[in-house]
Amino acid sequence: MRFQYDTIGERFVESKTTAAFSAADTHTLLGALDALGGVRGLDTLDLACGYGYNTRLLARGGARRAVGVDISEEMIRLARAHGVIGGDGVGALEGAVGAVRPADAAGAGAGRDAGGADAGGPDGTAGRDRGTGGGAAAAPAVEYVVADAAKLPQMGPFDLATAVYLFNHAADRSALHAMFRSIRANLREGGRLLAIVPNAGAYPHVDWSPYGVRIVDRVLEGDAPLLKAQFLTQPPADFEFREWAHADFAEAAVEAGFSTVGWQPNRTPPAEGARDEAYWTAYRAWPISSLMTCTA
Ligand SMILES: C[S@@+](CC[C@H](N)C(=O)[O-])C[C@H]1O[C@@H](n2cnc3c(N)ncnc32)[C@H](O)[C@@H]1O
Repeated sequence: MRFQYDTIGERFVESKTTAAFSAADTHTLLGALDALGGVRGLDTLDLACGYGYNTRLLARGGARRAVGVDISEEMIRLARAHGVIGGDGVGALEGAVGAVRPADAAGAGAGRDAGGADAGGPDGTAGRDRGTGGGAAAAPAVEYVVADAAKLPQMGPFDLATAVYLFNHAADRSALHAMFRSIRANLREGGRLLAIVPNAGAYPHVDWSPYGVRIVDRVLEGDAPLLKAQFLTQPPADFEFREWAHADFAEAAVEAGFSTVGWQPNRTPPAEGARDEAYWTAYRAWPISSLMTCTA
C-alpha cells in the first residue's frame, strides 16, 4: 500500500530543512526536551519519524535507544540512508542538541530493562543503523521500523516518545484514539509523550506562506475536516491532513490512560537575517502548531 509521504519523499527533506515553521517546531521540541532534563541514557521512540530528523536529534542528545517509526516505506528508506549523523544539516544543529542537558544519571537509569534488542517491524525490515559518532558518550543505537502508529507492536518500554505531526494524520476518531493507546502501551509508567500538533481554525484567516506551508482548501467530511495543503518547496508538494481540535487530542490521551495532558505555545528561534524579530512576532500571533505534553 502506498501512503502520501511515499510520493512526497525528498520534497519533505527539502521542506524540513528550509521551512521556517519547521525551524520553530525543532526549537520548541528542543526547549521541551531541555526542560525535561535532556534525553541522555533514555530509551526513546519517535513516531511518524519521516526521514529521521528528530530520531537523530534524540540519538545525538545521548539517548540510549532511539527508535523511529513511520508508515511510509520511502520515508524509512530515506531515514536509513541518513544514518545517525545525517546529511541534512543535523550536524549544524549540534549546538542546539548540546543544549539538551544530560539527564540526572540516577533518575535516567532507574527501573530500566536491559533493552537494546532490534524492534521487529511488521514487514520484517527493522534493522539497526549503528552510528559512527556524535554527542553521545557511547555510539547511539538508532533503529527504524515501518509501522502504523495506530497498530504499534510492543517495542518498548520507552521513557520518552516524540510525535511531530503524527496525530493530524489520523484519518478518523478511532485511528486517533488507537494511536494514543499504542503509544501509551509502549511507555513506562511516568514516561512522557511530546507531540507537535497543528492549531485548528486558521484557514482561511491566516496565510502561512512566508513560513513554508500553505493551506489551499478545507473539506467538511468524516470525523474532522480534511485540510488540503502544500509544502512550499520547488516545486510545491501537495499533502492532506485532518483538522482535529486540541480537545480531540486531549480526549484521546485521557482515554488511552495518560495521567496528565499539558499544552505549551510554539517557540521561535532567535531572529536572524530575513527571519527578523517582526517575522517571528507575526508567526507567534498564530503559529502552525503547539506542543502537547502527556505523562503516562
Ligand atoms: C509531516 S511528516 C513529519 C515527519 C517527522 N516527524 C519530522 O518532523 O520530520 C508526517 C509523517 O507522518 C507519517 N505518518 C502518517 N500517518 C502515520 C501513521 N499512521 N503511522 C506512522 N506514521 C505516519 C508520514 O508517513 C510522514 O512521514
